[in-house]
Amino acid sequence: PSDVRADEDGKQPTVIAHRGASAYAPENTLAAVDKAAELGIDWVENDVQRTKDGELVVLHDDNLRRTTDVEEVFPDRAPWKVRDFTSAEIARLDAGSWFGHAYADARVPTLKQYVRRVEVHHQKLLLEIKNPDLYPGIEGQALKVLGNEGWLDRRHLAGRLIVQSFNAASVRAVHELKPGVKTGFLGTPPVADLSAYAAFADQINPSYGSLSKGYVSAVHAFTGPHGRPLEVFTWTVDTAATARLVAGYGVDGVITNKPDVVRAALRGF
Ligand code: G3P
Ligand code: CA
Repeated sequence: PSDVRADEDGKQPTVIAHRGASAYAPENTLAAVDKAAELGIDWVENDVQRTKDGELVVLHDDNLRRTTDVEEVFPDRAPWKVRDFTSAEIARLDAGSWFGHAYADARVPTLKQYVRRVEVHHQKLLLEIKNPDLYPGIEGQALKVLGNEGWLDRRHLAGRLIVQSFNAASVRAVHELKPGVKTGFLGTPPVADLSAYAAFADQINPSYGSLSKGYVSAVHAFTGPHGRPLEVFTWTVDTAATARLVAGYGVDGVITNKPDVVRAALRGF
């Protein structure tokens, strides 16, 4: 509705393709990045884990079962944890057939392959560090890959990269290792705790179910480590009605598996 504005500044929320455009292509694969680009979506979200030989790969779960054919290829390697497989072994897996036959060639990308593809499309990256307790030092390692790929230069730091995690210590570690990198904390901390988060996080990124207009306004009242108001990116919003609801709350970003649906819903806000 035209009487509801997206936020207090009248700025339309950023649309972020969750695990890529994952309603239309297998999540966290290069195909899902390509699909987001094809839809004209310039932000993609991904999840990062670490292999046995120390390579960072893009995968949501800490095991390979749900989104690859690992049980067929390595039947005796239960429970099929990412950290128990080398990157060469993971590269053999089909990460697309579970989603659809057309994607049988999809692989679990390394973080390096992933950021290269994002760069090809001139997209922006919301990188989630997953399960940092399982992978000591993953923050520094992710930053190293990003740096090697040119993602820590001025152009990328000025609005093309955000690193987020559900683990506050991990978000703080990223901030302390590379203070120029924009960071997000995934969750809904009590308002009383927000000043502590504002020391190291630029964003507070809650599930939409835990949001209210009052909470978004409360977050916006704090100033983040880069001297700007804390932002709110919410997840995972896949219907037009919910997209309009959270836009009415004043969120800065909407993370969605269906970025085309959300973008259409927010047009005109
Ligand atoms: O980007 C936020 C969202 O991805 C967090 O939940 O489980 O989908 O990684 P999850
Ligand atoms: Ca995620």
